[in-house]
Amino acid sequence: MAIDLAIVPVAGHGTRLLPSTKSQPKEMLPVGRKPVVQYVVEELASSGMRRILFVTGPGKTSIENHFDINVELISVLRETGKEELLEELEFERKDLQYFYTRQRRQLGLGHAVLCAQPLAGREPVVVALGDSIIGLNAQSDIVRRMTDEFERADADAVIAFETVLREDVVHYGIAKPRVGSNSWSESPTLGEVFVLDDLIEKPAVAEAPSNLAVAARYVFKPAIFDLLAQTPPGKGGEIQLTDAIRLMIQKGGKVLGLQLPASERRFDIGNFESYFQAFVEFALADPRYGPALRDFLRVHLGQEHRPC
Ligand code: UTP
Repeated sequence: MAIDLAIVPVAGHGTRLLPSTKSQPKEMLPVGRKPVVQYVVEELASSGMRRILFVTGPGKTSIENHFDINVELISVLRETGKEELLEELEFERKDLQYFYTRQRRQLGLGHAVLCAQPLAGREPVVVALGDSIIGLNAQSDIVRRMTDEFERADADAVIAFETVLREDVVHYGIAKPRVGSNSWSESPTLGEVFVLDDLIEKPAVAEAPSNLAVAARYVFKPAIFDLLAQTPPGKGGEIQLTDAIRLMIQKGGKVLGLQLPASERRFDIGNFESYFQAFVEFALADPRYGPALRDFLRVHLGQEHRPC
């Protein structure tokens, strides 16, 4: 049976985006015209996912409301002659089923995934972080390619990786690819699949085995849940998904990496620097508002650089 269940953890506190996230989820922040999590769900749907299982927490009910069908709003738009806006609500009608469970204490990403186990059962699952968009306007079928590779190779896990600057490896989980595995070489070409020998969380630049960083999308056999249950709390008392993946590798599991091509970058909405950049990029690409924004920025930046 094709994999069609995606776990989307959205229970984190989002402290790096305070005060914006004090009373609203970071996953609902807009990037261009849509909230982050809508892009995530649209991307998953276009990759064949049919069941979306959100792991939510305190203050996250607006995510559930966003994916409900809002009958009252629809009739208000009809009655007030704003029918053209109904297409903005089209996403509500996608052929998807939504499920919600709670992470009652924010004990880390690994713990959030573990909270999905009673609903996920013993089938393979996709995990997609609710605060990361893949590709401009979520134009990416990376998850479909990952599930295809997962099945073709009978892997235990397939993980998406992005290339980051060498000095930035200190912020990410970094791949140690098996040299000579599949098409991996010291200078990999884009889109390649490789065997993972290890995953190093936030290494020092000098110790990083590559500049390939975990990029918010995973496919797992259900064994991941047993490994998460055995994973002791790590940094900050949190149960880290990275630690469970390492355990999987140490126990002889076949864990593959799939490198994102440059055309399908990861937009991380977890910190202000990359959030601002993502917003500007999506807004500039907007067919209706992008051209005027481009003109505005040109004038604005021109004024800033004008000598006094
Ligand atoms: P982050 O690692 O960015 O953690 O989460 P965070 O707590 O949301 O943010 P900061 O570090 O306080 O700023 C990555 C994804 O995993 C989810 C988040 O909601 C986000 O979508 N997550 C994280 C959980 O669901 N539960 C957790 O305990 C931690």
